[in-house]
Amino acid sequence: MAAPGGAADVPAPPRGDIPMAAAAPSPTPAAQALVPTDDAPSFSAEQADRGRGVFRSSCTECHYSNEFSDRSFKFKWRRRTAGDLFGHISTSMPEDAPGSLELQQYADVVAYILRMNGFETGVGELPADKAALAAISLAPFGN
Ligand code: HEC
Repeated sequence: MAAPGGAADVPAPPRGDIPMAAAAPSPTPAAQALVPTDDAPSFSAEQADRGRGVFRSSCTECHYSNEFSDRSFKFKWRRRTAGDLFGHISTSMPEDAPGSLELQQYADVVAYILRMNGFETGVGELPADKAALAAISLAPFGN
């Protein structure tokens, strides 16, 4: 019985010149996002006071205000922005009725929390706008 000695007739892959892995240069490290910019929104004492009022009526059922300035809170949030905090609160709090407050009330609560953590009050108001609030780094929490 004759074995079909067929040499497989597979063409070898062409030996083209394979370029060395072209590493894309990354000129802008993400760490830049932590630098607060001059045009970051600021907030007034009135807004922070309003936020305290919102906090007392809508949050103290479950939270003590000092939970939001203690070490573990600072540690958790200091690499994020006020936009992240606003986003978190406005979509998941109060836990039993997420999103039930006006967006501006959530921004007011963020002002209150920033003040509790040593942010200086100034002029103007934090807008109820996650993207704009992302300009405020919470890195000072780490101090
Ligand atoms: C019905 C109870 C309840 C109410 C009311 C409530 N929360 Fe919470 N909140 C929770 C619980 C429970 C957690 C923890 C959830 C988790 O970490 O998964 C939490 C977590 C949080 C966190 C994250 C804390 C951290 O360490 O990162 C923030 C900020 C927060 N709440 C803000 C608010 C604010 C502001 C209000 C009022 C507008 C509010 N909460 C109202 C129950 C509540």
